Amino acid sequence: MSKPLRVGVAGLGVVGASLARLLQRQSEALASRTGRAIVVTAVSARDRARDRGLDLNGVAFFDDPRALAGSESIDVFVELMGGADGPAYDSVKAALNSGKPVVTANKALIAKHGLELARLAEEKGLAFAFESSVAGGVPIIKTLREGLAGNSIRRIYGILNGTCNYILSKMETDGLSFEECLKEAQRLGYAEADPTFDVGGFDTAHKLAILASLAFGTAIDAEAIHVEGIETITQDDLAAADELGFRIKLLGVAERTARGVEQRVHPTMVAKSTAIAQVMGVLNAVTIDADAVGELTLVGPGAGGDATASAVAADIVDIARGVAIQPFGRPAHMLEEVERIPMQRHEGGYYVRLMVVDRPGAMAAIATRMGERKISLESIMQKGGARLARRRTDPPPAEGAPETVRVVLITHATSEQAIREALDLALADGVVTQKPQVIRIERE
Ligand code: HSE
Repeated sequence: MSKPLRVGVAGLGVVGASLARLLQRQSEALASRTGRAIVVTAVSARDRARDRGLDLNGVAFFDDPRALAGSESIDVFVELMGGADGPAYDSVKAALNSGKPVVTANKALIAKHGLELARLAEEKGLAFAFESSVAGGVPIIKTLREGLAGNSIRRIYGILNGTCNYILSKMETDGLSFEECLKEAQRLGYAEADPTFDVGGFDTAHKLAILASLAFGTAIDAEAIHVEGIETITQDDLAAADELGFRIKLLGVAERTARGVEQRVHPTMVAKSTAIAQVMGVLNAVTIDADAVGELTLVGPGAGGDATASAVAADIVDIARGVAIQPFGRPAHMLEEVERIPMQRHEGGYYVRLMVVDRPGAMAAIATRMGERKISLESIMQKGGARLARRRTDPPPAEGAPETVRVVLITHATSEQAIREALDLALADGVVTQKPQVIRIERE
């Protein structure tokens, strides 16, 4: 048997503690799979004294993760602290510069500095692995980089944030408000320290930036992603979606077309019959459209200590076996710089929920504005079911304000620019009284 692989772990939160337990629990199996023992020999954490239910006897403790990264007492550095910059960035760089392979779960770090760090790792001939940074326990990075290496990928999309999927699922099944469901997700430990990262779509955007790069062989460009969160989704939208045969999911979508790469994160209407619509709760799912294999969907736990530790352990096992594939599946300097398609040029179907003045000709005025922008309507629902009609608990219109009704429109494929312009005009015409709710529809 070869020498043990000495692992240094920076960050002993939920994932770090789960990893330490996993490596202990699976020690025999891991040793037989890799031919060497895998042992956590050093850690770094903010609070040395905190009881994490771990036996850290004989494990060296470093107050500064940078010192751990540079220490000769470890063979591999595992970064589980989080944050795009600061100690995470400094210590990963220090580890690579001192000749150590790195494993990280840090999607913000990869989305921002992934290419620079991948180049450094390649220069040094070291592994730089981040399977756990996207979709928790779902091995999506290995699938794209290794399993699908013989394919051209046209589109990749998915549910990449467990917190959002949990909230939307719970709002739907229990009829609760967004705020109530967010509290429950936090209680269960799914949400990031700052939950706006989850519900605002930014966590999904970081993950999508990484997937798009791996799928299309393009440079990471997280800044170019159009990002919307789920904070504005209401029970009205869920009820309308249900009546129309849809479910609402926060999707990250990346598509390669002749015009360039489109990358977007937003709440999306997906047909209830699709695989992605069946994915409920904290689960993640990623669908890949590839030329040779066709369509592939991977579903699994996207958050939580054990699931994420499972992916971190897989990267450590690769290192113990001596496997060091280029982090993005090709040399980092060969990742293409491509044209990014702005959201205004997105084309697809739209769901629009409006509060419309209840008087003759109001709907006709909206239809005219849509027609002027060449938008074709697929369906119109006015009080299309009891749950969409004015509720008895709705406040009455203010003194002198017009009576309004809820109207839901579904459009055929049109451009984002056309729909935005038509709705702005309808608002200016005074036939629509509030900012409309707009949700894109993703067809298979
Ligand atoms: N907060 C994330 C989620 C955890 O809810 O999916 C994994 O990135």
